[in-house]
Amino acid sequence: MSVLLVHSSSRIAGSFSREYAERLANGLAGEGGAVVTRDLLATSVPHLSSAMVFAIFTPDEALTEADRAELALSDELIAELLAADTIVIGVPTYNFTIPSSLKAWIDHVARRGKTFRYKDNAPVGLAAGRTAYLVRTTGGIEIDGPMDFATSYLKAILGFIGITDMHVLAIGKLAFGDEAVAASRAAAEAVISEMVVAGHPHMS
Ligand SMILES: Cc1cc2nc3c(=O)[nH]c(=O)nc-3n(C[C@H](O)[C@H](O)[C@H](O)COP(=O)(O)O)c2cc1C
Repeated sequence: MSVLLVHSSSRIAGSFSREYAERLANGLAGEGGAVVTRDLLATSVPHLSSAMVFAIFTPDEALTEADRAELALSDELIAELLAADTIVIGVPTYNFTIPSSLKAWIDHVARRGKTFRYKDNAPVGLAAGRTAYLVRTTGGIEIDGPMDFATSYLKAILGFIGITDMHVLAIGKLAFGDEAVAASRAAAEAVISEMVVAGHPHMS
């Protein structure tokens, strides 16, 4: 199994999403698998520039060298995504939604003709056949509750590019003190083990 592990927390030491996303990615990859890490804090993905948007909307055959240079990072991120059969994303909640670093990554990988296209006026996801795992952490909001705009958004955008097989490892209440954190960790331990076993049907 080939796993792409995406980190989007701006914390390094003590980051829950990094800790559990890494463990899940390694568990899913197993002995013979490979994990490729894309750390959006270590190497930030820029906001879309005007030149890049122009290049995105230019047909391949009309692209200049300068346009291709604008698309180079997007091409690299898309190739990294499509090379994986499993994607694990660590997703803390920032102001009710995903970190902006992760949104910038999405703006680079959701590209017409590369990860989606339109057929008969309907979108077709070109990244189908992959499985995504979201390691969702929150300080206080309820994961999948009315104030959680991150989980539903990620389900929508990953589904749009064809990744509809999606699992959520929910680790909440991290701002509610030691007891709450311990309970959230205990719950996560059970789910992560189940996810790893379910991700390897031959082990169950
Ligand atoms: C800038 C910022 C904004 C945050 N906004 C929210 C929020 O809207 N709702 C919430 O429940 N937690 C919020 N938190 C808490 C984080 O979601 C929580 O600490 C994080 O999920 C833990 O993941 P991490 O340890 O990997 O960073 C915020 C934290 C930061 C740094």
